[in-house]
Amino acid sequence: MKNLGPVLALYPMPMVVIGANVNEKPSWTLVGHIGIVSHDSVLVSLAKPHYINKGIKETGRLPINLVNQQILKKADYVGSVSGNKVDKSEVFDYFVSDNGVPVINDSPLVIEGSVVDIYEYQNFDNFILKIENTYVDEKNLNEQGKIDYQKVAPVLFDFPNYEYLELGKVIGKCLALDD
Ligand SMILES: Cc1cc2nc3c(=O)[nH]c(=O)nc-3n(C[C@H](O)[C@H](O)[C@H](O)COP(=O)(O)O)c2cc1C
Repeated sequence: MKNLGPVLALYPMPMVVIGANVNEKPSWTLVGHIGIVSHDSVLVSLAKPHYINKGIKETGRLPINLVNQQILKKADYVGSVSGNKVDKSEVFDYFVSDNGVPVINDSPLVIEGSVVDIYEYQNFDNFILKIENTYVDEKNLNEQGKIDYQKVAPVLFDFPNYEYLELGKVIGKCLALDD
């Protein structure tokens, strides 16, 4: 096997748009570097100069809006310009959650988190978030009331080739591959 050296190669990852009120207006930022840190907490890794970081630090909450193909163009746009220069408040239709967080109406699945820690590493604010609420379009649930990721159809991120991918098909049940 060829060793490519230290390449950031842990992909595909789900693409998400995070949102926060900054200077009393919602702003949106496209993020691919997210992760799971425990069974009730997730991580969002943001470069320190980003405009949205200020809003997250002030409000202590944010929505993680999964991206599907329907909102991909807008999601790509909010990853191409900074709120430091452009007002992105009008890009998405949204509702405000009970916790005051802007949630994108057309996102197929949204995780609302509260900031429990910020792990500063190199030039990144890594926000550790406790999951508070999970919003899903009911058409994306299966007959058992569970999230059906084939219906959610998340767009995935490939950083090394800088491309968006779609989800593949189900190939087996975990721990029951012989069934
Ligand atoms: C496909 C894609 C993935 C991105 N992933 C991240 C990421 O994981 N972390 C990050 O800090 N910025 C990421 N960015 C960059 C920000 O979305 C971009 O710099 C944005 O303009 C910052 O907006 P803001 O300054 O308004 O917060 C990504 C951009 C693209 C196009």
